[in-house]
Parts: sequence; C-alpha cells; structure tokens
Amino acid sequence: MNRTLNSIRQILIAFVLLAAIAGISSCEKYSFTPPAVNPDVVLLYQTDIQPIFSSNCLTCHGSKLAPDLRDGFSFQALTKGGYVIAPGETSKIYLKMTGADHSPRSSGVDKLKVLYWINQGALNN
Ligand code: HEC
Repeated sequence: MNRTLNSIRQILIAFVLLAAIAGISSCEKYSFTPPAVNPDVVLLYQTDIQPIFSSNCLTCHGSKLAPDLRDGFSFQALTKGGYVIAPGETSKIYLKMTGADHSPRSSGVDKLKVLYWINQGALNN
C-alpha cells in the first residue's frame, strides 16, 4: 500500500517537474521583445517625425519659442538652428528630448524615432 502511494507520488512529482520545465522553456521562447523602433527602417520626416512635434511640442514651441516646431517650419528651424547634428546622440534636439525637464514630453518610441531619423541623414523626406 505504502509502495503504491510512493510511486503515485513520484509520478506526480515527475509531472510537476516536467510541467515546470516546459513552462520555463516556453517563457524563454516568448520573452524576447523586439526593439520598439527598428533603426534600419527608413523614417520619414513628414509622416514619422513632424507628428511627434505637432502633438507634443506646439503648446510651447510655436512661433515664439525656439525651435519653431510647427509643420512647415520645423525642419528649417532645426537644421538652420543647429539642433540637428550627427551622430544623433550628440544633437541638441535629442539631448533636450531625453533631458530631465523635457523627457516626459515625448514617449521613448518618439525619442528613438528622432534619434534614428538623424542618424539616417536627417532628411526632409
Ligand atoms: C510646456 C512647454 C514646453 C513644451 C511642451 C516643450 N518645450 Fe521645449 N522648451 C521649453 C522651454 C521653456 C525651453 C527653454 C528653456 C530650456 O532650454 O529648457 C525649451 C527649450 C527647448 C529646446 C532647446 C532650445 C535652445 O535653443 O536651446 C529644444 C530643442 C526643445 N525645447 C525641444 C522640444 C521638443 C522636441 C518638444 C516636444 C517633444 C518640446 N520642446 C516641448 C518649453 C517646452
């Protein structure tokens, strides 16, 4: 009787262990998160970058406060104003967007888009 109970217990333990191993390995399989923004996908100023400024920055950066980030003005303001230089990590616009005071004004994905757009040549595309 005791031996039967023991073997049942052993079988149960084996099942639990197998389930745990299966669980861990399936977790590993799916825990990879792809990068939020693929640096190799071409970013377009008009459709990827300007909307970031239009929805997050215009309450302050309209015509009065530099840089002027309004649609149709922002590219000139950023390039002529020296806010955009390569590599993107050192550009004034990226440093400002990631700095303590401005960081909450745009999402992490938006910051990466601006960074990659600069590193892709900062085109008015
Ligand atoms: C609530 C108002 C406000 C919002 C919204 C805002 N800014 Fe600013 N920004 C300021 C002020 C004020 C300054 C000037 C003081 C300073 O440098 O922090 C400034 C400065 C800057 C500068 C540096 C200007 C210079 O000549 O040194 C950049 C670049 C900039 N902002 C980019 C942005 C971007 C990009 C966004 C949107 C993601 C944004 N700002 C949103 C208020 C704002």
